[in-house]
Amino acid sequence: MKTYLVTGAAGFIGANFIKYLLKRYDNIRIVVLDALTYAGNLGTIADDIDNDRCIFVRGDIGDRSLADELFARYKFDYVVNFAAESHVDRSIENPQLFLQTNILGTQNLLDAARRSWVTGHDETGYPLWRNGVRFHQVSTDEVYGSLGAEGYFTEHTPLCPHSPYSASKTSADLFVMAYRDTYHMPVSITRCSNNYGPYHFPEKLIPLIIKNILEGKSLPVYGDGSNVRDWLYVEDHCKAIDLVISQGRAGEVYNVGGHNEKTNLEIVRLTIATIHRLMESHPEYRKVLKKQVITPDGDIDISWINDSLITFVKDRLGHDQRYAIDPTKIHNELGWVPETTFEVGIVKTIEWYLNHQDWVEEVTSGEYQKYYDRMYGNR
Ligand code: NAD
Ligand code: TYD
Repeated sequence: MKTYLVTGAAGFIGANFIKYLLKRYDNIRIVVLDALTYAGNLGTIADDIDNDRCIFVRGDIGDRSLADELFARYKFDYVVNFAAESHVDRSIENPQLFLQTNILGTQNLLDAARRSWVTGHDETGYPLWRNGVRFHQVSTDEVYGSLGAEGYFTEHTPLCPHSPYSASKTSADLFVMAYRDTYHMPVSITRCSNNYGPYHFPEKLIPLIIKNILEGKSLPVYGDGSNVRDWLYVEDHCKAIDLVISQGRAGEVYNVGGHNEKTNLEIVRLTIATIHRLMESHPEYRKVLKKQVITPDGDIDISWINDSLITFVKDRLGHDQRYAIDPTKIHNELGWVPETTFEVGIVKTIEWYLNHQDWVEEVTSGEYQKYYDRMYGNR
């Protein structure tokens, strides 16, 4: 039986990852370590942690004694580090927190793993590692910086981050590689493009747009909306991480992307059109709308769900123009392909939000509202 330490699993991708693992494998045990920041919600994984196979510990990845205690108690085989401050806009507001969690927190976990996993040293002084262990760092394509109209990020693209968020993730990657080179630690890194899907916190583009449409609010598009992101359905990302941990080569980086580039404006327009279409074909979904306009026939009006909701707002500082991943390596070595097309994934995602408004309300009460008002004014 393999035991995983999965950090940050009360957040978006980590939660989807443990749900994926628990469904796929019977003979595993997972310990979730999560500080439950504004982005972490215990409700998201309440059904998963309620048994011996999955244990929840509230704590900071930067806490040395807690990390040592967990390694000693559970004898982890795998560490999968999702825990991070993950939002670029917040990193522009408060960079230091990103250094603390994303860099120092990661380094603390690397050290705890090293103290627990090293079994001796070879004659040249390099550590010998317990068989089968792996430290997996969940990284991002944003470490490569920004592309122009042409080209793709490969694993050989030089690291060139621009935002405080991506600079902190790059630094964490470099520490992971430093532990590989200095201590021969068995590590791996996945660098993934923008994810979307269930449990995505509504400060990020797609869930924010869905939430605002349902509330009849305007849809803030930064700059002229021409920035390009490469969108990947979250379950495809989870499959990629599982493959890399179990079959990927130690010491390697794997880029993970969907070959699904879209401008932000296209994403917003597609989201509007998909919500409109779903509400046309399933009138019961209209009850979810917070803005209820009744037509003369007594129906809930949806004619206002159109592109006129789009508002162009001030651009993000240092806004990266384009991200696009070349996933050839993970495809050729591990047979990974993105299985969910954007057309299918966006419908699944929107339907999930329509059916889980209680979750949205739970995660966006309190602190989120203050953040929204600060970022966008009271639109
Ligand atoms: P998220 O913000 O939804 O979740 C982050 C989780 O980490 C939360 O549960 C939070 O409580 C927890 N956390 C934060 N600080 C912590 C600390 N000090 N100690 C313990 N737990 C802490 O993030 P996400 O979108 O799920 O991203 C997960 C990882 O994937 C991040 O490392 C991010 O950089 C990376 N990533 C995200 C995307 C994306 O599109 N969302 C794309 C590529 C890579
Ligand atoms: P985001 O979801 O924050 O992810 P990232 O910055 O990590 O790519 O943003 C995706 C794109 O959408 C990015 O180019 C910024 C843009 N964006 C908006 O235009 N409006 C918004 O309200 C938000 C949150 C993002």
